[in-house]
Amino acid sequence: MADRDTLIKILDLARWAPSGDNTQPWRFESVADHHIAVHGHDTRDWCLYDFDGHASHMAHGALLETLRIAASGFGLRAQWARRAGTPDSAPVFDVQLADDPALAADPLIPFIETRCVQRRPLQSTPLTAAQRAALQAAPGPGYSVRLFESLPERRQIARLLWANAHIRLTCPEAYPVHKTVIEWGARFSTDRIPEQAVGVDPLTARLMRWVMKSWERVDFFNRYLLGTVAPRIQLDYLPAIRCAAHVLISRETAAQTVEDYVDAGAAMQRVWLTAESVGLRLQPEMTPLIFRWYAAQRRSVSRLPQIDAAVARVGAQVDAVLGAEGRAVFFCRVGSGTAPHARSLRRPLAELMVAPGAGISN
Ligand SMILES: Cc1cc2nc3c(=O)[nH]c(=O)nc-3n(C[C@H](O)[C@H](O)[C@H](O)COP(=O)(O)O)c2cc1C
Repeated sequence: MADRDTLIKILDLARWAPSGDNTQPWRFESVADHHIAVHGHDTRDWCLYDFDGHASHMAHGALLETLRIAASGFGLRAQWARRAGTPDSAPVFDVQLADDPALAADPLIPFIETRCVQRRPLQSTPLTAAQRAALQAAPGPGYSVRLFESLPERRQIARLLWANAHIRLTCPEAYPVHKTVIEWGARFSTDRIPEQAVGVDPLTARLMRWVMKSWERVDFFNRYLLGTVAPRIQLDYLPAIRCAAHVLISRETAAQTVEDYVDAGAAMQRVWLTAESVGLRLQPEMTPLIFRWYAAQRRSVSRLPQIDAAVARVGAQVDAVLGAEGRAVFFCRVGSGTAPHARSLRRPLAELMVAPGAGISN
């Protein structure tokens, strides 16, 4: 039965879904015993990585998929639909839960809470045939999976990420985003990424914290002291080589609507939970795809023309190295490795609940 206690248990699990920079762009309303409304929002106003809200819409999809998986553990079949007339920047999803005694509990349930990002280098031990097959099957119909496993392929992707990271680190518009989303000095964070989960060594982290106090410091450091080199080696180049494979998830047809990106987010979460279930760690590598979205629409990332030119080059490099001609929706790397010692947590459920019919404040 979908009583209130059960709904709370399901939402308590669902909130562990991943979101870009741990923004958790959702609030929950318990409308009736069998009905939850998920109030989504996006972060495009302040986060340049949330191009047209796509990253948030993918997070909404991950949340709805996690909710569906969690509900199966209580014999409930969850189905969702976007509420008509709700804006792209604040879509509302109505989730209906129906009793289904024949429904088997989803085998991915145990991984909902343990799944998390590992941004540090992984083992480059090749994938087993079983791991490869599980990843290929995970996103389901309408999606294809391409694996980049060989050393030359990983080297090529390392070069792509190296160029991509230079944009992230030298773009003045990205600086306030990075400053906002890192909780400095922290091992765990309920609403951001804790410093220790960023993936740099403690000395580099201390330096980054000091440098990132002002854009002037960042700019000076980048210009005269090779400031982008240490973070790019630690966060991009080495992890790109030290993994078992990079994984590209593409749709059969290019994503266009909010619902397409929500669906892609559900596929992403199935891949991520499946990776966890077969003993693999995963790190999304979404910024090259996001810069490609900008480049494809000739939209400006920065007031600095050299940044826009670099974005156009990375967009072309994404097409040359990854292919998929704009149908790619998720890019990540996987490999075996230890669980990270630091991770993002989540806002408590009470903070995410809104009263029925209440206005939503983020
Ligand atoms: C759509 C989307 C895009 C993401 N892009 C990146 C990325 O490019 N690089 C990265 O390190 N993590 C990325 N993440 C991971 C989030 O930062 C992470 O899920 C969030 O901070 C919560 O942490 P957790 O997954 O460890 O619980 C992305 C997550 C989502 C849902």
